[in-house]
Amino acid sequence: MSQGALRILLKKILVSFLLGLGLCVGQSPATRPQTAQSPTTQSKAAQPKAKAVKPQPSDWWKHAVFYEIYPRSFADSNGDGLGDLNGINSKLGYLKELGVDAIWITPCFPSPQVDFGYDVSNYEDIDPTYGSLSDFDQMRKEAQQDHIRVILDFVLNHTSDQNEWFIDSRSSRTSKHRDWYIWRDGKGPNQPPNNWVALFGGSAWQFDGKTKQYYYHYFYPQQPDLNWRNPAVKDAMFDVTRWWYNRGVAGFRLDAVDTLFEDPNLRDNPVLPGKNVYGDPNMVNQYNIKLPEVHDVLKGLRQVADKYDAVLVGETATDNIDQLKQYYGDQGNELQMPMDLMFMKVNDLSPPKFRTQIAAVNAAEGWPVYVIGNHDLVRSYNRYGDGKHNDAIAKVMAGLYLTLRGTPIMYYGEEIGMQNNDPKFKKDVKDPIGKLGWPHEKGRDGERTPMQWNGTPNAGFTTGIPWLPIPASYKTHNVASELKDPNSILVFYKHLLALRHTNRALLDGDYLALNQDDPNVMSYLRRYKDEAVLVVLNMSGQPQMVHFDLAPQGFASPQARTLLTTMPEMQGGATLSDISLTPFSVYIGEVMKQAAEQKQQ
Ligand code: NOJ
Repeated sequence: MSQGALRILLKKILVSFLLGLGLCVGQSPATRPQTAQSPTTQSKAAQPKAKAVKPQPSDWWKHAVFYEIYPRSFADSNGDGLGDLNGINSKLGYLKELGVDAIWITPCFPSPQVDFGYDVSNYEDIDPTYGSLSDFDQMRKEAQQDHIRVILDFVLNHTSDQNEWFIDSRSSRTSKHRDWYIWRDGKGPNQPPNNWVALFGGSAWQFDGKTKQYYYHYFYPQQPDLNWRNPAVKDAMFDVTRWWYNRGVAGFRLDAVDTLFEDPNLRDNPVLPGKNVYGDPNMVNQYNIKLPEVHDVLKGLRQVADKYDAVLVGETATDNIDQLKQYYGDQGNELQMPMDLMFMKVNDLSPPKFRTQIAAVNAAEGWPVYVIGNHDLVRSYNRYGDGKHNDAIAKVMAGLYLTLRGTPIMYYGEEIGMQNNDPKFKKDVKDPIGKLGWPHEKGRDGERTPMQWNGTPNAGFTTGIPWLPIPASYKTHNVASELKDPNSILVFYKHLLALRHTNRALLDGDYLALNQDDPNVMSYLRRYKDEAVLVVLNMSGQPQMVHFDLAPQGFASPQARTLLTTMPEMQGGATLSDISLTPFSVYIGEVMKQAAEQKQQ
């Protein structure tokens, strides 16, 4: 064996030894993955003989970059036109290189796929579309080797109507699982129990001929709501989380948490003027969402999660910061990561609006969670893009949410500037809400198209026929070609994520808004002890001049050292009193306590 090969072998042995100890060369403790192993998955021999030390939950998720994967669309390993777990496995190297620490996989459990997986028929298995449990185990294991944690999607408000719990529930009024769902008599012949309408159109009540009662569904009729007032439901669902934690899952994204409970008296919701896109009356969802009982469930789920050092991410649809604040729990004992979806809904490049939202979430005392896109919303590339400078704007948005104090959740393809590809005709729509609401509501197919890996036909996603059409932009916006272009969105993301993982001020610094009256340029400092990073984002299509005096903040040096910028002329550094910005540009620089020459004296 050559000396070089021997050195590599010795290094491998050392790394696997350190990994076994939970240590890892070249990684900060904050980013180091830990296996969520319960005592039941550890071999007896490995269990300590002495008194077991109670594991303390860590806050690994604070420094992690999360990445949402829609498995149907990420990578297809078997040519059936649908992505799968082996496909995800084959792309772990890409994710690692990109700088991702945790992947959230949207539902991949057995499901009739009415809502593409958000209708779960069995919580403890994998849908054959996506592979098998052993594919899952293998993927999770390999992800761990790449220091990537796996988070699953927990659909807890409802199941599929094909779930065996519901099949039994609807079989008779006295069945074991009858009270696991919400069954009621109608008000009269052909009259549902109240006026509630489903989010996905029509009455929220479905009449079932067999037992002559209605069941409640907040989403599609094929997604009956579970009755969380029944302790048996709670026990079964809590067990589901344990089952996956024991398989090494590092947490869950909790689907639609605000919909878990309904008014026990089923009072009618107040009706508003007009109709929605499905032709249903507009109403205030006063009695069927955001009931306070949800917080007891979240506290319980958190207690379980803490035993496994797992994270709970919430799909927390909120109207104001007080509602969001509640999801952290009064003692920080509910969700570690409730998503600030109000940030995502700032739909224009408006520094004042972003400042307001960031200030509000920072004041909420929890750890902020920032998202700019997901599988339910038009892609950020289109929402923020002006049609002419979309690539530059995509970098500005990355420069914003990846440098803020908080944890970002990326959406697959955002890093290459994937754009929406909405269906042109109703006949092409796959998402049922698009069929129902056409043409006003085209459904969510457009933001769920296959990942664009390269410029070959089907963007390298599949060797078969992709389940959704790929937009023509894949020829320029794909991983392979962007990796070769130093000015691509992808390369910018890679640099930004590398910086975020290594810069102390970006990891742990506070957030201080600067030049708050500027309507075009968003500027802030991230400060950690003696270190600080200045972020300047020109959100306008015009050149801008900005001026900073950071002496009052304790950073008296007139110069900044450039860390990352989209402006080549700023590579050498910036003079804070006069920074000239090109349209839609990003400047990120390190600022210092005192000038370099003063330091030497
Ligand atoms: C929220 C999910 O993000 C969405 O895709 C799904 O349709 C609904 N919840 C119902 O589960």
